[in-house]
Amino acid sequence: MGLNVARIREDFPCLCQDGAGRAPVYLDNACMTLKPTQVLDAMMEYYTKHPSCHKRAMHRFGVMTTKKYARARSVVKEYLNAPKDSEVVFTRNTTESINLVANSLDLAEGSIVLISDAEHNSNLLPWVFLCQRSGLLLRTFPVRPDGPFEGLQEYREWLETGKVKLVSTFHTSNVTGVTLPIREMVSLAHHHGAMFFLDAAQGLPHQPIDVRAPDADFVAFSFHKAFGPTGMGALYGKTRRLVELRPFLVGGDTIEDADYGSCTLSPIPERFEAGLQNYAGVIGSAAALEYLANVGIANVERHERELNEFITEELAKLPKVRILGPPDAASRSSILSFIVEGLDSGELSILLDKSANVMTRSGVHCCHAWFHKYDLPPSLRVSLSIYNTLDEAELLVRTLHSIVKHF
Ligand SMILES: Cc1ncc(COP(=O)(O)O)c(C=O)c1O
Repeated sequence: MGLNVARIREDFPCLCQDGAGRAPVYLDNACMTLKPTQVLDAMMEYYTKHPSCHKRAMHRFGVMTTKKYARARSVVKEYLNAPKDSEVVFTRNTTESINLVANSLDLAEGSIVLISDAEHNSNLLPWVFLCQRSGLLLRTFPVRPDGPFEGLQEYREWLETGKVKLVSTFHTSNVTGVTLPIREMVSLAHHHGAMFFLDAAQGLPHQPIDVRAPDADFVAFSFHKAFGPTGMGALYGKTRRLVELRPFLVGGDTIEDADYGSCTLSPIPERFEAGLQNYAGVIGSAAALEYLANVGIANVERHERELNEFITEELAKLPKVRILGPPDAASRSSILSFIVEGLDSGELSILLDKSANVMTRSGVHCCHAWFHKYDLPPSLRVSLSIYNTLDEAELLVRTLHSIVKHF
């Protein structure tokens, strides 16, 4: 059954028409999605009914916040199919989740950290910094800008050296939308004795996720890309991996006891959640996952793929357009990134917004190294969500046709 998009749009106040009777056409969902009233209401309830911290406060506001905080963790655990609540750590975003692990891991000097060459800076720089300060080596396998993913052979060869101790890679690329064969990659990594860190920032909002299959050691994602509040993310980690980490951010709530020379750390996950937390954010994040589960991830996937297929087919008719990543939309999740020869992507994005109310993203999408390596100009990225319609896709295509015709 298809999505009832008209009904879904009613949940998003931001999609209300402006004074001129035009609704915004929001196609920058890979950066962050819009927020439904269900999420806004859950957050508002925290601020209006029990605005207090959790755990430490014994009064009734505190007790209510403690309950809701614990419940939110369970909701995330259920959504991920994680074995235990304590394997879910709340963070500010995917970036913080990756930094948490990169700054807390203890790997032997000379070990290799293996990533793809197309990682978001958030899954590149924490490893670059780690390698610089601790004598580890950073190596990459290729994700080329044209065609399907063909880097598995290089990936396997790196693992066969026996030196790779950690693999960290995206699930779905934020630039091209290509999705990696994660199951196979995780089992290869484990077979060769390496841990696997999955950056699911662009995976979780658009595809089914189950941390038991593929059996990654760590999974990071951001709620703001999945209908949740801004500045909220999570890290899933297997218990035996989390207990091996030495927290790099410590303070209130991370310890059981302390004196002037030492401390006893709190159990996981509290030892990683330092200081007063974003309670409204945590509660809103749980509401966001419940919203997503209610819509149904299979429906999300199908709807976004159909729109992406339509836009891809229409764009292919335009001269001078180069689509990055696999040519078939079905392999690009909710993302379509392209370059129009002779046209600056930033100008194109501004023109789409000014002339048709269509919001897209231009630039190198926090993948500077990859754009340099393959000598690519900045691209224009269209990224879809459940509230986007065929009418919006047609408007985008029509406007692009008329802009490109004039150049
Ligand atoms: C694949 C990928 N990884 C990591 C990030 C960083 O996410 P955040 O800014 O929410 O930390 C992004 C953000 O777009 C992303 O697309």
